[in-house]
Amino acid sequence: MHRVSVFGLGPVGLVTAVCIAHAGNSVVGIDPDVQRVRIINDGEAPFYEPSLREYLKEVLKKRSFSATDNSVENAKSDVAFITVGTPGARDGSINLEYVKSAAESIGHSLRARHGYQLVLIKSTVIPGTNRQLVKPLIEKESGKVLGRDFGVCSNPEFLHEGNAVYDCDSPDRIIIGGETHEVEVAEKFYSELYGKNLPALVRTNSETAELIKYANNSFLAVKVSYINMFANLCQEIPGADVEDIAKGIGLDKRIGSMFLRAGLGWGGSCFPKDLRAIASFGKRINVPTSLVDAAISLNEQQPLKAIELAEKLVGNLTGKRVAVLGLAFKPDTDDLREAVSIPIVRDLLEKGAIVVAYDPTAIDNAKTIFGNRIEYAKDSVTCLDQSDCCIIATEWNEFKTIAPETFLNKMRMPAIVDGRRIYDPPRFMRAGIKFAAIGLGQ
Ligand code: UDX
Repeated sequence: MHRVSVFGLGPVGLVTAVCIAHAGNSVVGIDPDVQRVRIINDGEAPFYEPSLREYLKEVLKKRSFSATDNSVENAKSDVAFITVGTPGARDGSINLEYVKSAAESIGHSLRARHGYQLVLIKSTVIPGTNRQLVKPLIEKESGKVLGRDFGVCSNPEFLHEGNAVYDCDSPDRIIIGGETHEVEVAEKFYSELYGKNLPALVRTNSETAELIKYANNSFLAVKVSYINMFANLCQEIPGADVEDIAKGIGLDKRIGSMFLRAGLGWGGSCFPKDLRAIASFGKRINVPTSLVDAAISLNEQQPLKAIELAEKLVGNLTGKRVAVLGLAFKPDTDDLREAVSIPIVRDLLEKGAIVVAYDPTAIDNAKTIFGNRIEYAKDSVTCLDQSDCCIIATEWNEFKTIAPETFLNKMRMPAIVDGRRIYDPPRFMRAGIKFAAIGLGQ
């Protein structure tokens, strides 16, 4: 059994902490936000993530996990994770303030520790952060010797929201970047954590490990933008359908079928911030990141395709009642960060439309963004009531089963913009609904 500290109890940190405790270790989660610490110790997750609440209740009951705002607790651990956020600054570059303060807290707490501590940086950070920032800060604050008293590995995480608990319990691979000894300690920790289910390990230096995370997220975002570019081409060619293109190329094993769902663009807490950060880093060291730049610019325009299609179906949107189904940046989360629904709703309001929205989990978060400028429906069917157009902005499962008749019965003028390709176009068109979809040429 290991004693583990996790610095930062956001989506990555809390899931990591709870999963490691669930696997039989003793974990303390450290976060300066007293309110958050209280909520977590009461058994509530401060955000929605499938299975997290159940895991949390279990490990609290077993006393294998607790949260605190007191970073000195870290002195008792043999492994410490840094899982704090790395938000983007205004110019797109990375803001490392939270990483800095976690490193300082770790350093400070290590003054009271006897014995080696391994620090693992899970936060997404630009190359050089471990060597040039984290290691020197811990050394300075602790008065300890790097390599002898502590080691720091870059160990990026690849959890995706909505599936984070599973990803943490069964990762595809583990990336460990650092000097030989610290990498060996990390490898031993993970071998014990996962036992015979230990996934493939990639051992490298810290800069490469840091870069792997950006290469991974950029690749996936570029892949989505790539299919979205073809979706936009399809839309101008009568009869062409991006769904078949995705199927056609996805069957090529060299390409693979994942991340080829065309839609209104990618959002969330990682892709937008990470692509901007690596583009800004490239600029700083004078290396063009043109593919990433192109994906960002295509993605900025993509949500507005929903408005274009809505105008094609129902004409001028002024005074029209538009139902937006789905606000979260993707299904199975209540996260609205950089969700495509935000520019869509803003543009609809600018055009004078009346917006009524529904999302199974994200309404409370949406209220903090849109306030009373839009109406919020209690369910999807009520949302459609007397509307002139419906935009599907997130592919929640419960929207997939809404029958054409429901749209016909509820809407004033049945018109659908399927921004996530959840409906079978012929079925809806045959029913007499005005229907448009991303990547469908008409
Ligand atoms: C992502 C990475 O997948 C994860 O490894 C990393 O640690 C954090 O960033 P996440 O942001 O939770 O995870 O969401 P993900 O499922 O990857 O989707 C990102 C965005 O791309 C969403 O807006 C999603 O709707 C969009 N997307 C994804 C598509 O539009 N089409 C696709 O085919 C796949």
